[in-house]
Amino acid sequence: MLTTLDLKRMKKDGDKITMVTAYDYPSAKQAEAAGVDTILVGDSLGNVVLGYDSTTKVTLADMIHHAKAVKRGAPNTFIAVDMPFMTYHTSLEQAINNAAKLFQETDCHAVKIEGRSKNTLELIEILTDGGIPVISHLGLTPQMVHVMGGYRVQGRDDATRKKLLQDAKDLVSAGAVAVVLEGIPEPLGKEITEAIDVPTIGIGAGRFCDGQVLVYHDILQYGVDRFAKFVKNYANYDEIGIDAMKRYVKEVKEGEFPQKEHTYEA
Ligand code: KIV
Repeated sequence: MLTTLDLKRMKKDGDKITMVTAYDYPSAKQAEAAGVDTILVGDSLGNVVLGYDSTTKVTLADMIHHAKAVKRGAPNTFIAVDMPFMTYHTSLEQAINNAAKLFQETDCHAVKIEGRSKNTLELIEILTDGGIPVISHLGLTPQMVHVMGGYRVQGRDDATRKKLLQDAKDLVSAGAVAVVLEGIPEPLGKEITEAIDVPTIGIGAGRFCDGQVLVYHDILQYGVDRFAKFVKNYANYDEIGIDAMKRYVKEVKEGEFPQKEHTYEA
């Protein structure tokens, strides 16, 4: 299993880091079997698994429940888990307690924190000092959807470009072991990647990040109606799954299933 030191070494060696999201036992098992470097139990859970319209409804209990299942499915893979909406903003003490609970109860290897708000640098320093690695997340940070006024590419103007670059440097100085960059122009993804000595993992941040992350349901086209520009579908689970269930329904209706081989002897 990779460690945070391996991830840093991979950046140095130009060895691209792969990350996929997983939310339960089977998706984690598949990710580990596919040989991904790292798994993220993302709070995108809210959108792709729980059917919410944003990540803001996801709770700490949701994250713990799903991350435990992921850990059981991928016991040999580096797993990061998202701190969900408003679990790290009310006070430093509450943020530390929530991070410790998430980390201890799930047995994951790092927590991920979106953005850089008032207490974030101090929070990262304290968690790192206490033994909890932190992955930062900058750019289009979905928990801020209502403040940002929608899911918009960030860092297109000079002021926000400079701010994101400075935020990345500050978060790394505070102890962040990697930075997820989401929804930013490719040149800015490159600039940040070159400016910091920990890996950047991009999602809609261009080709020059040290690694890439995609959402499991986007990769597999599984229950998602609209895809962002940065997504590439590698399969069509919806087609396969719906077709299989249609055949099952038809066979039951027509008395073709079950056959004798599917039954028990007396
Ligand atoms: O929640 C999530 O899935 C994420 C990734 C998109 C980076 O934060």
